[in-house]
Amino acid sequence: DWNMPDYVEEAVQFIRDQVGDEGVILGLSGGVDSSVAAALIHRAIGDKLTCVFVDHGLLRLDEGKMVMDMFAKNLGVNVIHVDATSQFLGHLKGVTDPEEKRKIIGREFVEVFQAEAAKISNAKWLAQGTIYPDVIESAGKDKKGHTIKSHHNVGGLPEDLNLKLLEPLRELFKDEVRELGLALGLPHEMVYRHPFPGPGLGVRILGEIKAEYADLLRQADAIFIEELRNTLVDNPLGDAVPPMTWYDATSQAFAVFLPVKSVGVMGDGRTYDYVVALRAVQTQDFMTAHWAHLPHDLLGRVSNRIINEVRGINRVVYDISGKPPATIEWE
Ligand code: XMP
Repeated sequence: DWNMPDYVEEAVQFIRDQVGDEGVILGLSGGVDSSVAAALIHRAIGDKLTCVFVDHGLLRLDEGKMVMDMFAKNLGVNVIHVDATSQFLGHLKGVTDPEEKRKIIGREFVEVFQAEAAKISNAKWLAQGTIYPDVIESAGKDKKGHTIKSHHNVGGLPEDLNLKLLEPLRELFKDEVRELGLALGLPHEMVYRHPFPGPGLGVRILGEIKAEYADLLRQADAIFIEELRNTLVDNPLGDAVPPMTWYDATSQAFAVFLPVKSVGVMGDGRTYDYVVALRAVQTQDFMTAHWAHLPHDLLGRVSNRIINEVRGINRVVYDISGKPPATIEWE
């Protein structure tokens, strides 16, 4: 039987024995796996761990601040925060094809990470948040052929950097990784976060990516997620079942930016602004998914807030497509 406190002790000892006095670097994405790996390795070796957090300008609202607050401020982890927004957006200028965008983002990511890693002179190890399903599902490719986990975007790095691989979550299933995260003191909201694709908002802005679009999308997305987190699922069983938010009742939820303008009215004026689509799905394995039957009053509240609070968006639609035939992301 699996006992968490014992497991933490064993894992910590194992990492210490493996690493000795050498330094470790880890690409921190803000996702569950890399975050739990960071917390565990930090528990084991403290200052000998350096995390690199790359902001490609296509992250969710306040993501960088959240990661720095949680890891650098609260846990005292060494985190290098790299703002590479202009480098990424520069290379993405004029590019509209989804796979081309993915390739550019992946390539630039490796480049930025590598440049930072090279500065950490004592590093002999590259840590990754690889979990057991990643290992058995041979590289975790989905039907479109892209990697499912963002840390796979640093694939190829060990050879180039000449670092040894440290993968302390390799034997754990997702629910065990979450339990471990909680035992290490990470908050519930972090440990139960929805997955977020490596290319981030880059595949949620249809076609060409512009800084202006990313700013609008970030605001709309944050409103949607906030309302999902603040709304409890109607529970006919009352106290018999613990209350659950719509965020926890969905597997993935986000906003998509449509670079299409439509007409609206605001006060006594006409608007001609962009459209945002909301997507929320329920799934076990992300290979098939159902659109979530979100309550109409929740959808209405999200729509009103986005249109009133985000200047530049005047229309909100809800995506009611299943996977298959649609995919979860729009690109
Ligand atoms: P689709 O859109 O293929 O998405 O139904 C299935 C799952 O994979 C995620 N996804 C990605 N994750 N890099 C990633 O790290 C990607 O390029 C990528 N594309 C899709 C998506 O968010 C969903 O969880």
